[in-house]
Amino acid sequence: MSTLSTLKTLTLALAIAINRTQATVVVPYVSYIGPGPLGVPNEFVRNPVNESGGMFQGRFGIHLAIGAPPQHVWVAPHFYDSETYVKSASLCENSTQIEICESGYSGIFAANESSTFEGSNGSSFGRDTVSGFDAVPDLKNDEFKFGIQTTDEPNFVGQDWGTLGLGPNSTFLQTFFPGKEQVGIYYTGGNSTHGKPAHSIPPRPLVIYELEFDGYNQSHFMGDKFTQPIGPPSPLSNSSNPFTLNVTSIVVGRKEILGGDSYIATVDLSGRTSNIFPSSVYKSFVDATGAAIINGMPAYDIHNLPSTSIPDELYNLTISFINGNRGFTVTIPQEFYISYIQGLDPDHAVANILNADDPLVKQSWPDKGPVIALNQLMFTSYIGIDHAAGEWWLARAVHPWDEPANNNTAEPKENAAAGGIGDNLRKAMGAAAAFATAVVLLC
Ligand SMILES: *[C@@H]1O[C@H](CO)[C@@H](O)[C@H](O)[C@H]1NC(C)=O
Ligand SMILES: *[C@@H]1O[C@H](CO)[C@@H](O)[C@H](O)[C@H]1NC(C)=O
Ligand SMILES: *[C@@H]1O[C@H](CO)[C@@H](O)[C@H](O)[C@H]1NC(C)=O
Ligand SMILES: *[C@@H]1O[C@H](CO)[C@@H](O)[C@H](O)[C@H]1NC(C)=O
Ligand SMILES: *[C@@H]1O[C@H](CO)[C@@H](O)[C@H](O)[C@H]1NC(C)=O
Ligand SMILES: *[C@@H]1O[C@H](CO)[C@@H](O)[C@H](O)[C@H]1NC(C)=O
Ligand SMILES: *[C@@H]1O[C@H](CO)[C@@H](O)[C@H](O)[C@H]1NC(C)=O
Ligand SMILES: *[C@@H]1O[C@H](CO)[C@@H](O)[C@H](O)[C@H]1NC(C)=O
Ligand SMILES: *[C@@H]1O[C@H](CO)[C@@H](O)[C@H](O)[C@H]1NC(C)=O
Ligand SMILES: *[C@@H]1O[C@H](CO)[C@@H](O)[C@H](O)[C@H]1NC(C)=O
Ligand SMILES: *[C@@H]1O[C@H](CO)[C@@H](O)[C@H](O)[C@H]1NC(C)=O
Repeated sequence: MSTLSTLKTLTLALAIAINRTQATVVVPYVSYIGPGPLGVPNEFVRNPVNESGGMFQGRFGIHLAIGAPPQHVWVAPHFYDSETYVKSASLCENSTQIEICESGYSGIFAANESSTFEGSNGSSFGRDTVSGFDAVPDLKNDEFKFGIQTTDEPNFVGQDWGTLGLGPNSTFLQTFFPGKEQVGIYYTGGNSTHGKPAHSIPPRPLVIYELEFDGYNQSHFMGDKFTQPIGPPSPLSNSSNPFTLNVTSIVVGRKEILGGDSYIATVDLSGRTSNIFPSSVYKSFVDATGAAIINGMPAYDIHNLPSTSIPDELYNLTISFINGNRGFTVTIPQEFYISYIQGLDPDHAVANILNADDPLVKQSWPDKGPVIALNQLMFTSYIGIDHAAGEWWLARAVHPWDEPANNNTAEPKENAAAGGIGDNLRKAMGAAAAFATAVVLLC
């Protein structure tokens, strides 16, 4: 029998849960693929592409509007760095193709053109009015502190975009959600479940993920949480990834390719890279799927790939983790990580999988060694990050397309990009051809 105090505790917990759910703030995490009709509308751009025929710049990340009049930048979430950085317009000053420069940085910010900006002398940090574009409900703060990057940090993946610092003591979390160092992430299947409608069609963004602040929405996940500690390293470092998983099984289609070993992989929660396998596992993957290696990635003649008309033969990729004696499994369907390369060679497809021992991968990705990519996790999971508790967790996601209540059996849009931005990695490697690949992976 429940005692009165247990009941009170339960009631209190319920009240808190309801209160939190009501306070949930959803911020879309978008991609404008660009150039082309899916690019960002010119109204958000300093230097529009001067071409007739609907050319637009591309963007990726969280859309922020900064200053007066508002300037638009996109920042990629970063879960162990705590500062928000935008790229300075001065970076593109000498650029011969300024619109490409601006597009590559996901937008640039000119502090000298904002009447509300307050800089501190001799420092790259300043304060200004910042709002989250398309956040529901509205997010706005008049004194948000952020950094302005005036130099490039070469070679590392993601350094060429702005950063939304969501790490411990995040200035963003402390400014907008004081006392709540929590972030939830879920995959939208390329369409927002909450955000306002897209502004113009076309162009319009692809909503890849949504970030959830000020509490988790309980209706977005179900079942047990698979909880991991944040770290080591401890104390937390902004230069090494404290999110890890102990991988115990990898199955491609029906073949186990890990062979009873286990390894520790860091987790790319930013969506900036692909799954990166240890060299031996990469080789087993290549063998199991009969791939050739082109540009450092497993490539296929599409006629040799299992077709979706025979689902039992598809190369779905299933990865299992363990923590003590608790396990968790995530699967990504074949068609979401093996994509056709349009334009280059219509008969080829590429798997968004990289080899940890590839020198270019080592050089480009700051977290050395194997990586589990966000798209692998998000296809079937909801992620919660709780800095105050020093832990993060995965739970089974409830997506709009598989909510039993409405029996909506619609699959997410094909190639709606469950993240997996091979794009930037390959770009950092200087492979223009592979950039085209990544665009395909994204769109
Ligand atoms: C929680 O998610 C559900 C399903 O997407 C949605 O209907 C509901 O409005 C959300 N609640 C809040 C408070 O955002
Ligand atoms: C765009 O191109 C047209 C034709 O070449 C030119 O007349 C116009 O000045 C250009 N606009 C800008 C903003 O450069
Ligand atoms: C502000 O600074 C940017 C970058 O240095 C420069 O391109 C722009 O012309 C400046 N704007 C004004 C109004 O001076
Ligand atoms: C642009 O060129 C000027 C003059 O050569 C130079 O002083 C400045 O540092 C350059 N800016 C960048 C961002 O490279
Ligand atoms: C910044 O420094 C310059 C010269 O060092 C000075 O003229 C200016 O007043 C300073 N601005 C502020 C806001 O302190
Ligand atoms: C966060 O801030 C608290 C209080 O200032 C400090 O004690 C702690 O070390 C900080 N944590 C990190 C990871 O920087
Ligand atoms: C996105 O969702 C809206 C509202 O549910 C729907 O009208 C629209 O067709 C969807 N778009 C795509 C690309 O699925
Ligand atoms: C990590 O953060 C500290 C303090 O904010 C900063 O001084 C240092 O440059 C950062 N390191 C990297 C690699 O960003
Ligand atoms: C990973 O899991 C395996 C299998 O349970 C275990 O033997 C190994 O010690 C674990 N590794 C770490 C670093 O926890
Ligand atoms: C692969 O996943 C699809 C659903 O995405 C499913 O229909 C199919 O049966 C799976 N095939 C295998 C071999 O796991
Ligand atoms: C959803 O499907 C189940 C199983 O087919 C059925 O029992 C249920 O009535 C359906 N629910 C709705 C709302 O249509």
